[in-house]
Amino acid sequence: MSAEFPYVRPRRLRSTPAMRRLVAETRLHPAELILPAFVREGIAEPRPIASMPGIVQHTRDTLRKAAVEAAEAGLGGIMLFGVPEVQDAVGSEGTNPDGILQKAIRDVVSEVGDALVVMSDLCLDEYTDHGHCGVLAEDGSVDNDATLERYKEMAVVQADAGVHLVGPSGMMDGQIGVIRRALDEAGHQETGILAYTAKYASAFYGPFREAVGSSLKGDRKTYQQDPANARESLRELQQDVAEGADLVMVKPAMAYLDILRQIADASPVPVAAYQVSGEYSMIEAAAANGWVDRERIILETLTSIRRAGAEQILTYWAVEAARMLR
Ligand code: PBG
Repeated sequence: MSAEFPYVRPRRLRSTPAMRRLVAETRLHPAELILPAFVREGIAEPRPIASMPGIVQHTRDTLRKAAVEAAEAGLGGIMLFGVPEVQDAVGSEGTNPDGILQKAIRDVVSEVGDALVVMSDLCLDEYTDHGHCGVLAEDGSVDNDATLERYKEMAVVQADAGVHLVGPSGMMDGQIGVIRRALDEAGHQETGILAYTAKYASAFYGPFREAVGSSLKGDRKTYQQDPANARESLRELQQDVAEGADLVMVKPAMAYLDILRQIADASPVPVAAYQVSGEYSMIEAAAANGWVDRERIILETLTSIRRAGAEQILTYWAVEAARMLR
């Protein structure tokens, strides 16, 4: 080695905050963050979700306020989940025009519809008494094609309520195509679809089950993807795009950054990622114990999800992160 070794000094570009800011490859912006929010029927006060410290099931009224706060923070959107009072075998409340989610969509669209993209979960698990994302066949299995009939109806009532993007999250085969056709036939050509495209059967959804009062006993392994697999995500991507998805999503996020990168490289439409309930609660629990630096870890995980290829990120920290970024 020559006397001037080391003459390559990468540390120069890390030396000051200004230098690091100048050369940062990945930037987070509030406009690409989406807040998931739960609204529960028949409650007078918001209810804390024990397994998600800091997150509540909203009343219609506090949801409106949360939506205003999200708009003021400069977020890109809000994703609504309804928690009905009554569940049944076919998830009737999911297609009730006066069901809680449809009411919440109307509320939020009238409150902040110009400032935020309003999205809704399109799935039956919040509404069924068995907790599955679809209706059951006689043998207890989830009946794909019968479920599609329910999804068509859900899509139309959600669009009737004024939602901008429906978010089918049930992983039934053909769901994007039938929803697109149902929306078009009902005159909702303008309503878009954010498809949960690569959605894994994940233990990271644990706290969400409490958040929506799901009564699921078993698991979703016959319809959500196996964490062992990457290839089928690309097949789901091709299929969802061919069927009319406007945006596609990978979920969960942190444990699936490789999938996110592959989808981002292949997708002709925007790619979102969902930092799910378990990701949130794990970090909140560690932070509450003083084991990790909460704010740093929030921004680090969001930056990593962005770096892996997500252009939109659903995160329960959306409002807080947006404020940190300002
Ligand atoms: C299905 C749905 C789930 C989540 C979003 N939509 C649960 C599941 O598929 O089991 C999970 C979100 C989270 O864990 O934060 N309606």
